[in-house]
Amino acid sequence: MTPSTGPGLALPEGFLMGASTSAHQIEGNNVSSDWWAIENRPGTFVAERSGDAADSFHRWPEDMDLLSGLGFNAYRFGIEWARIEPERGRVSRAAVEHYRAMVLGALERGLTPVVTLHHFTSPRWFSELGGWTSPESAELFARYASTALEVLGAGVRHVATINEPNMIALMHSIVRRTARQTADASDGPKAGPEHTGAAALDPATAEPDAEVGQALIRAHRAAFAVLKAGDPELQVGWTVANQVHQAEPGAEEVAAAYAWPREDVFLEAAREDDWIGVQAYTRHRIGREGPIPVPRGAATTLTGWEIYPEALGEAVRHTAEVVGPHVPVLVTENGIATADDEQRIGYVTAALAGLAAAMRDGIDVRGYLHWSALDNYEWGSYRPTFGLIAVDPDTFARTPKPSARWLGAMARAGRIPDGTPTAVTGDARCAG
Ligand code: BGC
Repeated sequence: MTPSTGPGLALPEGFLMGASTSAHQIEGNNVSSDWWAIENRPGTFVAERSGDAADSFHRWPEDMDLLSGLGFNAYRFGIEWARIEPERGRVSRAAVEHYRAMVLGALERGLTPVVTLHHFTSPRWFSELGGWTSPESAELFARYASTALEVLGAGVRHVATINEPNMIALMHSIVRRTARQTADASDGPKAGPEHTGAAALDPATAEPDAEVGQALIRAHRAAFAVLKAGDPELQVGWTVANQVHQAEPGAEEVAAAYAWPREDVFLEAAREDDWIGVQAYTRHRIGREGPIPVPRGAATTLTGWEIYPEALGEAVRHTAEVVGPHVPVLVTENGIATADDEQRIGYVTAALAGLAAAMRDGIDVRGYLHWSALDNYEWGSYRPTFGLIAVDPDTFARTPKPSARWLGAMARAGRIPDGTPTAVTGDARCAG
């Protein structure tokens, strides 16, 4: 049964309702990036390569037409450092113009652009220098941010410097560990995970690299300064992967110590920012001995994550508590990897109810950007489908799912479900 949308919470004026993507996951052929190099290396641990992805590098006007036609008023997308600066110090004017056109294209369609400067991928030359561990990393990232001002100058107000620094620090450890395992096994059977899909990035099994974490905080601060100096009107923040660490009774201290390097250190670093991006999908339970695995038989998504829509409201509350009430929250990612679109609607209904409750309790939330606009490249695999819009891998034809029309109708109505039980009307699902 389709969950009730209820009378819902009326959204405040200017609330951003839309969807999110990242450049590498949808554009295709991001050939100058470090991820492309990893995917295409002989013997790579990555199961599936990104290839043409959703070909959004060429098809972005269609993506934006769909999103605005569905009723959304905002679109979060990434610009790719590796395209803008494919070689150290050489700026591709064509790439800058490409992304300026995207910003203008979003505005023409009534979509407020929320632009991410860095979403997991870096130029290959940057990684070869040592990536975030290079002593030059903050300076190099800030220089890229200053080039990005040309793109942002086309009319962007909301910019995210770095997506999920906590996951970058984790991935750094995982990639290093896997490379070591592959090298150790090179004379015998191959070891290591089949792919680096999101499940392999489970924070429970990896230690974030503290040095990389500190380098990311320095890079964020340096970019923040450059962006604000270039355009004081810009609203600058970053987005954190909220893990929703839940302490079992008696494990409060263990959970706090576990959460600190994995999340809270990055939230604290946002206390001086203009906004903070919340990205929540599931929860992690922490017992006295550390993380507790998802119980056998629990309902999970295509990424193996426990289905726990309450994560969104809890993440928003935790974020506001750590960052402080003076920094507004933007939900920059929330969604579910499922092939069952009814399940997506059910999950989002419950997630939005948690968000509405947090807003009613006074937390300043300025937007909800669903992950993801499109079915896309999930870091090693196309199998986990997060999209509101399906993409045919051969023809690239886009087909909005019922969830897209359902969520778009809410954006139009300016209301989100708040858990109030009422009869289901067909309207919300078919409008758009
Ligand atoms: C990332 C996305 C990813 C999504 C689902 C977030 O961690 O920002 O790139 O696709 O979660 O795994």
